[in-house]
Amino acid sequence: MRAPLACVGDLVADVLTPALVIDLDAMERNLARMAEFARAKGMRLRPHAKMHKSGVIAKLQVAAGAVGVCVQKLSEAEALAEAGVADIYISNEVIDVRKLARLAELAKRIHLAVAVDSVLGVDRLAEVLKTAGSTLDVFVEIDVGQGRCGVAPAAAGALAHRVVSHGATDATGQPTGMRFAGLQAYHGRAQHLRDPAEREAAIHHAVTLARAAQSSITSAGIHCPLVTGAGTGTFVHEAASGVYGELQAGSYLFMDADYAQNRPAPHAPVFEHALFVKSQVMSRGVAHAVVDAGHKSHAIDSGLPRVWRSGPSAASSGFADIEFGNGGDEHGILTPRSDAVPALGDTVWLVPGHCDPTVNLHDHYVVVRGGLNAGVVEAVWPVDARGCLD
Ligand SMILES: Cc1ncc(COP(=O)(O)O)c(C=O)c1O
Repeated sequence: MRAPLACVGDLVADVLTPALVIDLDAMERNLARMAEFARAKGMRLRPHAKMHKSGVIAKLQVAAGAVGVCVQKLSEAEALAEAGVADIYISNEVIDVRKLARLAELAKRIHLAVAVDSVLGVDRLAEVLKTAGSTLDVFVEIDVGQGRCGVAPAAAGALAHRVVSHGATDATGQPTGMRFAGLQAYHGRAQHLRDPAEREAAIHHAVTLARAAQSSITSAGIHCPLVTGAGTGTFVHEAASGVYGELQAGSYLFMDADYAQNRPAPHAPVFEHALFVKSQVMSRGVAHAVVDAGHKSHAIDSGLPRVWRSGPSAASSGFADIEFGNGGDEHGILTPRSDAVPALGDTVWLVPGHCDPTVNLHDHYVVVRGGLNAGVVEAVWPVDARGCLD
């Protein structure tokens, strides 16, 4: 792995660019706000670590009260387990038998859970768990409106029954093999609906479907211990539902430019931008400037980054009136509107459009304490699960 772009103790001004920078004070405030929200609502919090892919951050979340973290991929779970995370839920389906065998091995080392949405997936998982002699929790995923993975709510009972039928107990009466843990009910498409009333309506529908799935499970004579789901755009509604017991929000910790476009729900906790790409003006025209960060430094699937004006206080910080244009792999083209054209060598802070795939482009986080203007590098954290796609 290449050397990081900064060392502990460096001034933020000296961090080489383009660099992925965490404003640690802002991140800690976000961490505490979500932990406090979950505590106050009596909800379990299992933040999504697909967003940060970092063992250090996952452990900070657990230290603040999270029960563990979610990931989306087996290799992410392996990387975070290696980094010392002890409780991981893969909120996604795994169907390949070679991966299932790895899953069964991982389940011997940590508390592990996985989602299922097919009889084939359940049967294959049961087989590898039996061979390996390991135990894990299984959530039946239902489709609550995204049209992605998940069975129809009415089919949840039959699939839960299939899971339970593979379970066994050991000599002490403890369940072994597959333990039915409840329902996975995540509505991805609802997260970025801009209007809070539309997000609330989408989750209201999801809650109705989750209730129907619970009934289908109860009718099969099975207890449904938990409904898990929710993201940064909607968690206040899942928390108010009386049906969901666990929140999986992830992006709240960093807050990307796409989430900044959501109009907030009334009384929802407010989160700050805490993840930035530090870039530098490397070329300048009369009416434009070019920075050294293109879409190899930040993802553009959810829109281009926005330029951040970092003032000495929160009141003097905010989005600059400068348009970021896509200059290709390695360049960003800044066209100022009312703000001035930055000078050659100037630092330009970018808030990425989408944090998850931006993080996946970098080896390290440069972690800054004391703000983006005069702060100091407090740590450099590896992006442990970078490139873990399988
Ligand atoms: C299953 C699942 N749960 C939770 C989340 C967290 O969403 P967010 O990062 O928007 O809070 C995601 C994100 O894609 C997800 O796929």
